[in-house]
Amino acid sequence: MPSFSLHVNNKDYTVEAEADMPLLWVLRDLLDLTGTKYGCGVASCGACTVMMDGNAVYSCQRTVGSCVNKKIITIEGLSENGTHPVQKAWQQAAVPQCGYCQPGQMMTAAALLGKNKRPSDEVISSEMSKNLCRCGTYHRIKEAMHIAIEEINK
Ligand code: FES
Ligand code: FES
Repeated sequence: MPSFSLHVNNKDYTVEAEADMPLLWVLRDLLDLTGTKYGCGVASCGACTVMMDGNAVYSCQRTVGSCVNKKIITIEGLSENGTHPVQKAWQQAAVPQCGYCQPGQMMTAAALLGKNKRPSDEVISSEMSKNLCRCGTYHRIKEAMHIAIEEINK
């Protein structure tokens, strides 16, 4: 079995896997980082979203072989103690319902705000449309985005 060096949440890992194994399975099954969720497996839901080199990506669509030398951040690595502005805003706005989609939602939000500290409502809607929520928490997500934007622009 080939092995791959991965940089995840500021730690270096070596994993043994077939080169075409989706990053999602590597994170969940080999590294025990189960905060990243499986929803559809076909790039339609965003539950599996992680940050790669600062961009939100669907980890179900990335093979482990394509992730070497990339800086990967999962929900577990967004902050050490839940104090990332997105995490605090999500808590303040009480966004989650069942919670299943929320790690992906927060990773998309964090990637957007990492690149654009004051996105317009249009940009927020467009970026966050990459993540579906079966519980319909979209209004609270928008509210939390505005709380996070205020926090990072203080
Ligand atoms: S599980 Fe990756 S987009 Fe749905
Ligand atoms: S909070 Fe339940 S799917 Fe989004």
